[in-house]
Amino acid sequence: MLNNLGRISPGRPIADATVWGRDDFLDDRSWVRPIPDVLIDDIDRALPRLRAAGLAPKEVRPAHFPLPGAAAFLADVIDAVEVGPGFGLLSGFPIERYSEADAKLAYIGLMSHFGQIAIQNRIGEYVVDVSDKGNGLGPQARGHYGNKELPFHADGANSVALLCLKTAPSGGCSLLVSGATIYNAVLNERPDLLPILERGFHHHRREERDPGDPTYTPWRTPVFAYYDDRFHIVYIRPSIDYCAAEGVEITAAETAALDFIDSVIARPENRVSMALEPGDLQIVNNFLVLHSRTAFEDHPGHARHLVRLWLDNPASLRNGPGKMDWYMPEHSRFLRERGALLEGFPGGA
Ligand SMILES: [Fe+2]
Repeated sequence: MLNNLGRISPGRPIADATVWGRDDFLDDRSWVRPIPDVLIDDIDRALPRLRAAGLAPKEVRPAHFPLPGAAAFLADVIDAVEVGPGFGLLSGFPIERYSEADAKLAYIGLMSHFGQIAIQNRIGEYVVDVSDKGNGLGPQARGHYGNKELPFHADGANSVALLCLKTAPSGGCSLLVSGATIYNAVLNERPDLLPILERGFHHHRREERDPGDPTYTPWRTPVFAYYDDRFHIVYIRPSIDYCAAEGVEITAAETAALDFIDSVIARPENRVSMALEPGDLQIVNNFLVLHSRTAFEDHPGHARHLVRLWLDNPASLRNGPGKMDWYMPEHSRFLRERGALLEGFPGGA
């Protein structure tokens, strides 16, 4: 019964498909899902209609981009993201047969079947070109416009999608770690840290805020939570650490809990590496999987280029708090509906 899928008992190790490690997805691409011809035919047929509709990305719904021949394939991928490992990698998105603008539009149409295209930053971008624009990573900058290695983190909304248009000449590998694997390691090795991680942390808002707004969230976002009896992880170490410079006390016990999580993430056996190729499309559930990217180097005329979408899906089994709340609280479904569950939420319990 779908309603029972993915339910867990807090405090007990998780033993379902959301628990995995390196050896479950060796980098041989045998587990990658090639996009079937029937879906490519559907995309070809649906694209002119979507183009003619002239919709903004946030307005695109599955009815605007019907994919009738590929329903079983799409259901399988949605299952993987929702109750499987929490991610899916599709190959063969037909970027070569379209202009870049049409490829992006077809990508938006396809991903509307996984959730509504969500806002990603305060300047109002819904479709973000992930490429090296020379930006660093710090309290004033998010990492997607740089080329440095990114610490493991989750993005905002229910899931994040990346479409690879061009690879870098070197580096830029995508890395994933299962949140449930991290949770089990805490339970098995350091259960004393669990209450700290369930209480959670304040997060720095970087520059994703209006002038005069607080620099960090007044509420705490749990690292591990169990909304609707389903496991959720939200972990972004830098935005926790940046709060210390704003006067937030991070206790020795809290630092020990964060260091332990980092040590579990660092174990090679927990990391799945995938080198995205042009036409690869990765979808990651932000409440189940943390992601990272290795450093990369572009060459003149050969620059890495991915296109990122955030997908907001009220029908998802997991609808927890996260990055959307920190940067764009007015767009956060969680804060609107359940913000009062968070410690320190203004007006909450
Ligand atoms: Fe990310």
